[in-house]
Amino acid sequence: MPSGRSEPAADQADGQTAIELSALDAAAAWRRIADSLAAAAASARHPFHLLSVATVDAAGAAEARTVVLRGFDEANREVWFHTDVRSGKAAAIRRDARVGLHWYAPEVKLQIRIPATASLHQADDIALHAWMASPPMSRACYTAAHAPGEPLTSFPAAPSAPAAGDDTGLANLCVVRCRFESVELLALHAAGHERVRIDVASNPVTWTILAP
Ligand SMILES: Cc1cc2nc3c(=O)[nH]c(=O)nc-3n(C[C@H](O)[C@H](O)[C@H](O)COP(=O)(O)O)c2cc1C
Repeated sequence: MPSGRSEPAADQADGQTAIELSALDAAAAWRRIADSLAAAAASARHPFHLLSVATVDAAGAAEARTVVLRGFDEANREVWFHTDVRSGKAAAIRRDARVGLHWYAPEVKLQIRIPATASLHQADDIALHAWMASPPMSRACYTAAHAPGEPLTSFPAAPSAPAAGDDTGLANLCVVRCRFESVELLALHAAGHERVRIDVASNPVTWTILAP
């Protein structure tokens, strides 16, 4: 595990600063993380804008991939991302809704791990809202003729952005909402790494300090 503090400038990214868990309590730590997730969903420059999502495949093997954080709902303890209904991860979630969410931001030396239960939203109001809010270049992904992961004989051209009013890609758009009850943090510090599991479903929130 890496150790050592960065220069102060390197500890900041898009308004984020390194987190000292020992200076906080559970509620304050969750406040920081909730604010970060809300900001990360809104800004492509935020260090937590991208996350890894792990699922379990049909043979029981773990699979992880990068996705874009599209939203966060603190009250319902949900984060969500968009994917293609034809993708392997969508199939995996239909079989087993358990997912592992993972972020690491070297700028602030913080890892976030969230075990969650995923639900797929396709051809419903949530999917329609996501489609309406997506710019043409994002919509283009969902117009691809071939399903993600399908073997091809050559590299495909990028799908072109659909014209305004062309909603054919909507049928392939899926919003994956991931609901959780706990959040695990690992903050790296030269003076001692800090790891906690925050129970965000309890009121007030509580935490357990863990050996790093
Ligand atoms: C920076 C980056 C962002 C990505 N964002 C998404 C995303 O938001 N949704 C998505 O389905 N795939 C996204 N991908 C592609 C996935 O990582 C993955 O390759 C693809 O979805 C197929 O995964 P699957 O076969 O496991 O379903 C992204 C990849 C990268 C590198």
